[in-house]
Amino acid sequence: MNILMIGCGKMGGAMLRRWCDASNHSFTVIDPAKPDLPQKVRVEADLSELGGEIFDMIIVAIKPQMIEAVLPDYKNSLKNGGVVVSIAAGFALRNFSKILGDVPLVRVMPNLPALIGLGATGLYANTLCSSGQKKTVEDLMEAVGRAFWVSSEDELDKVTAISGSGPGYVFQIIESYIAAAEKLGFKPDEARALVLQTILGATEMANRSDEAISALRESVTSKNGTTEAGLNALNANGALDTLMRETTDAAYKRAIELQ
Ligand SMILES: NC(=O)c1ccc[n+]([C@@H]2O[C@H](COP(=O)([O-])OP(=O)(O)OC[C@H]3O[C@@H](n4cnc5c(N)ncnc54)[C@H](OP(=O)(O)O)[C@@H]3O)[C@@H](O)[C@H]2O)c1
Repeated sequence: MNILMIGCGKMGGAMLRRWCDASNHSFTVIDPAKPDLPQKVRVEADLSELGGEIFDMIIVAIKPQMIEAVLPDYKNSLKNGGVVVSIAAGFALRNFSKILGDVPLVRVMPNLPALIGLGATGLYANTLCSSGQKKTVEDLMEAVGRAFWVSSEDELDKVTAISGSGPGYVFQIIESYIAAAEKLGFKPDEARALVLQTILGATEMANRSDEAISALRESVTSKNGTTEAGLNALNANGALDTLMRETTDAAYKRAIELQ
């Protein structure tokens, strides 16, 4: 496919670098910052450099607040029947339709670990997308982690609240966990290494297991042991359950407000 990416900053650039290794598509980027990209990518600062070329796919990777000003100029850059893919958070399909008319469109919500090929991405396609176009977008997102189709834009807002914002929650939990280890007397570098290796090991164990997470937790919790004592404090009267629910509810509410 002949693919055009509009804007190629942190997220667009991270994905494109992986796609260059993992796919045979041909890529063109328009970005005034002229980012340093693999040689096979054509990089231009401005749309006028393209001389009217048209593309099978246009990927919108600029900030959401710029889309209304920038995207109308690209209306004629999409091949008849071509697909538009947006990674912009919170910019709804109906707003794309106002600018581009009725075109096949996929909204994707990646998260930051896509930078290292471990992203979790939600995808939602409008009804004009062919199964071939959906498969192409899915393959691109699988190249930067795992891709999950959802059946409504509302579900994409929920994905935003779970995995889009999720790395932030996890970093916060890691910070608190490290601070607690330091309080017990470990030096900062020791606390960081112990905590990160524990989270990595537990996550990888869960990933490789078919068992319920609660069964894994029970398997490391002996009666009256240290883990049980810690867990009784961590989730006393379901306090942690409530906190996680409030966290994801607040992010979901904000995702809706930002539409
Ligand atoms: N970062 C994340 O974790 C994340 C996660 C999910 C979704 N997203 C979405 O990804 C999109 C990009 O985010 P980002 O973090 O990658 O932002 P970013 O680093 O600021 O990238 C945007 C790029 O677009 C360029 N640009 C500005 N004006 C342009 C124009 N008229 N035409 C073409 N390119 C233009 C910017 O250049 P200048 O720097 O010179 O302005 C910049 O290189 C956003 O819509 C965001 O919602 C990001």
